[in-house]
Amino acid sequence: MNSNNLTSIRMRASFNEEHVSGAERLVPKDRIDATVSELIRRAQNRVSCPDRIILTIEDIGSVVIKQLRSLDLVTLNVSDVEEARRTAARVLERAGVLPAAAERAMKLLATGPAPSGRNMRGAMMIDALTGERTEPDQARGIRASRFDWSDHAQAAVEQQLTGLGLTHFRTREALALATKVANAPGIIAELCWSDDPDYTAGYVSSLLFGYVRFPFLKKGGMDRGGRAFFTQHEGFDREVCIRYLEQETVLITEPGTCRPPCIPEIFINTLANRSVVSK
Ligand code: COA
Ligand code: AMP
Repeated sequence: MNSNNLTSIRMRASFNEEHVSGAERLVPKDRIDATVSELIRRAQNRVSCPDRIILTIEDIGSVVIKQLRSLDLVTLNVSDVEEARRTAARVLERAGVLPAAAERAMKLLATGPAPSGRNMRGAMMIDALTGERTEPDQARGIRASRFDWSDHAQAAVEQQLTGLGLTHFRTREALALATKVANAPGIIAELCWSDDPDYTAGYVSSLLFGYVRFPFLKKGGMDRGGRAFFTQHEGFDREVCIRYLEQETVLITEPGTCRPPCIPEIFINTLANRSVVSK
């Protein structure tokens, strides 16, 4: 698809110089006004009212846009956070993330992955074999940006998510972000839980196993969280990967399948015969 008629609109809101929320859309020119209003409303809806809202409206020029199908989604029923993290590590291992690398990422997310011991402004990049962190700046991290759903794909995925009771806008937005990330050159999987103390859900995702959601990957009230992008060890080109994640425009034009909740053991068994899809 040619991007001639699309504009990237990005919103970030802060209070006392601290980031409180962000969202972005890719829309045709005749929807710029309505989208700007929607994103300002979104910024003001936060519990902690921002004292600054920054909007960027950027014509993305006539580049060719990458079109993707969203990852399939499933929720795994687990009984507590420990079981959720153990299961997440087992799922990650199927995609090639060594248990020690997954464990290191989880420890960092639980304690605050920035050098200050706080949350990062983006994601960690972690070698799936050695567990080594490779992002250029450990306070900033890497931020996936310039992605959105097409109208058709958004309506279709929302219908499926609503049917499963997943009505929180975060699920749809996180699924879009994870879809862009899973398709990045050199990334084999992602792990995420939010730093919002009221939002305990988290996920692991990859092209191999899709978007695997856990109702809780941390205990309620915890304000530490973040994302880890696990990368292949051999032949990984960090700069190419970061450029794709931060600069290249991606539109999700086809919905994946959102499945009813599943027992972890059954889901993990279904992965036995799958092989890593080449990008
Ligand atoms: N946390 C903390 N600070 C953030 C931030 C975040 N998540 N996102 C942006 N900022 C602040 C930082 O100070 C950043 O400077 P830095 O690059 O030195 O870290 C500054 O804003 C500019 O960030 P930038 O990404 O260049 O701004 P932007 O206006 O182009 O885009 C967002 C901002 C928030 C829209 C974009 O970064 C983003 O995260 N998009 C994805 C949103 C989304 O759908 N998330 C789904 C979550 S479920
Ligand atoms: P959130 O899903 O908004 O609760 O964000 C959880 C964590 O993910 C943040 O603390 C950041 O570390 C990280 N993060 C936020 N936005 C992005 C992004 N666009 N790309 C990668 N990581 C992000």
